[in-house]
Amino acid sequence: MCGIVAYVGGRRAFPILIKGLQRLEYRGYDSAGVGLINDKKIITYKQAGKVSDLLEFIGDSDTSGSIGIGHTRWATHGPPSQINSHPHSSSNSQFSLIHNGIIENYSSLKKVLEEKGHVFKSDTDSEVLMHLIEDVYNNGNDLVDDPKWDDDDDNTLFKAIRVALNEVVGAYAIVVLEEGNPNEFYAARKGSPLVIGIGNSEYFVASDASPIIEYTDKVIYLEDGEVAKLNKNQDVVIKTILNEDKSPYIQKLEQSLESIEKGGFDHFMLKEIFEQPKSITDTMRGRINPKTNDIILGGIKEFESQIVAAERIIIIACGTSWHAGLIGEYIIEDLARINVEVEYASEFRYKNPILTNKDIVIAISQSGETADTLSALEIAQEKGALTLGICNVVGSSITRVTSGGVYTHAGPEIGVASTKAFTAQVTVLSLIALRFCQLKKTVPRGNYNFLIKELIEIPKKIEKLLSLNKDIMKIAMVFKDASNFLYLGRGFNFPVALEGALKLKEISYIHAEGYPAAEMKHGPIALIDEEMPIVVIATRKENYEKIISNIQEVKARGGKLIAIVTEGDIEVKSIADYCIEIPKCFRELTPLINIIPLQLLSYHIALMRNCDVDQPRNLAKSVTVE
Ligand code: M6R
Repeated sequence: MCGIVAYVGGRRAFPILIKGLQRLEYRGYDSAGVGLINDKKIITYKQAGKVSDLLEFIGDSDTSGSIGIGHTRWATHGPPSQINSHPHSSSNSQFSLIHNGIIENYSSLKKVLEEKGHVFKSDTDSEVLMHLIEDVYNNGNDLVDDPKWDDDDDNTLFKAIRVALNEVVGAYAIVVLEEGNPNEFYAARKGSPLVIGIGNSEYFVASDASPIIEYTDKVIYLEDGEVAKLNKNQDVVIKTILNEDKSPYIQKLEQSLESIEKGGFDHFMLKEIFEQPKSITDTMRGRINPKTNDIILGGIKEFESQIVAAERIIIIACGTSWHAGLIGEYIIEDLARINVEVEYASEFRYKNPILTNKDIVIAISQSGETADTLSALEIAQEKGALTLGICNVVGSSITRVTSGGVYTHAGPEIGVASTKAFTAQVTVLSLIALRFCQLKKTVPRGNYNFLIKELIEIPKKIEKLLSLNKDIMKIAMVFKDASNFLYLGRGFNFPVALEGALKLKEISYIHAEGYPAAEMKHGPIALIDEEMPIVVIATRKENYEKIISNIQEVKARGGKLIAIVTEGDIEVKSIADYCIEIPKCFRELTPLINIIPLQLLSYHIALMRNCDVDQPRNLAKSVTVE
């Protein structure tokens, strides 16, 4: 989704903005732009395409100035084009705005503004917001009824932004520049993330911490409905859009610069796949008592008795996080014997769900900013359910609106295709299942201890599996030109088949379907011919004999079989065309290792097809619109 970066201070703004936009590229975008105050005038450069296209377009033009705003746009209202790119100017070019989010009532606002004489150049909702702010600035509250408008004596643009935002329905993170005012700008948010970095007589603003991290570790996460005035010679001033004063809460950023760089790998995705032994260890760190094997999940401790007594857990999530949720369903039901339902957040929010205060709703999200998941949580809260989160990004919106939760601690995930965040989510869900089976005594202590031991061993097993990278590359070479793929799995590994298929389609643009293996004969079997590669997860203990029958059905129709098998397997090996051997593992924890070769297979196929692995077309890392 759109990325925002802004700077005011003593340095040249342009290089900071460009570097910041490059750091935000992973979010997904299709045009870019910057606005600078140079000799008191606002200069704007924008272009469809990548940041590199913007740089080429700017060439040797003047980029001086120590205040500026930068934006990467992920098209929603209107196609990717120069005119629709941000920043957007007011009618007289006095103001310039960048925006992330969606103004849902933009067309009614646009109509009112057009009647008042405003002329719009772009198709965007963002330009409407710019004109709305301008209109309020010029005409006071004739458009907006704000009783506080007249007796408030703070800066007029600050006021105009606050008043205008009261009229907006939807989500926004914005930064607004004012011509002739090279010392300050304004930032506001509701529903879309925004972080303020505090330097030495300088401020940074960005959609996430990645553009800020190398300059300062002092940050403020702006809350919904807050507007900040950032003047390089003054302390931060924050007010709500209802004109209440807020005290800025300055936090220390815990990320490191290395964590958002490629560290010798060709792509972030590959780095993140290889990081999984470490990220899973980090997810478990401090959560398993080495002496007693007891699990400690501090963020949900106070709700344990409520969870034990719960009639059901409802997991809401999207995409890869939804797949992790499905694995959670299998493992929590199997071990802790709690009824679990897994819902697409986007469907849940519109289906008038039946919920009571006995239900526990767990939102799973890497970014913690996914709009559908946030809205689904709102509904769950309205209906009285206890809401918890499993998130990767510290301080993200979901972590702030839920009553408690568990961080995945996978570190920043930059590749759009989620890999290490997925295994970290599954690790957290395994810890939750184990904690509640311990509390509910649904698994004998001896078995519990074996499971804990196995969980601790997982990073080592993944390490071993990663050494098969070259073999997987060879398999990728054979199938790189396929047009379709089928992924089959059963039980705990059915969601792994779904996730393997999603990884492939996201980054290689090959059509891929995941299916529970036994369902194949109810339809998808019609697709199988000599051209069709089928990836089967056939590790031991997970309905092994049944899977072998499914494999035979595929072979009988000429399909090409790539099987994920347990090391030492003979039976499947004798039937399949290609096999990838997985270290032995308990059934409940196999998803954590079975997904690794599927991630690598997708990566290599995408690379061989010359696809942009880290920034696949049309995709955004964090989907902050509906
Ligand atoms: O940040 P979230 O986990 O809430 O994101 C959910 C999905 O948008 C995300 O998992 C998406 O499917 C990824 N591109 C998967 O690789």
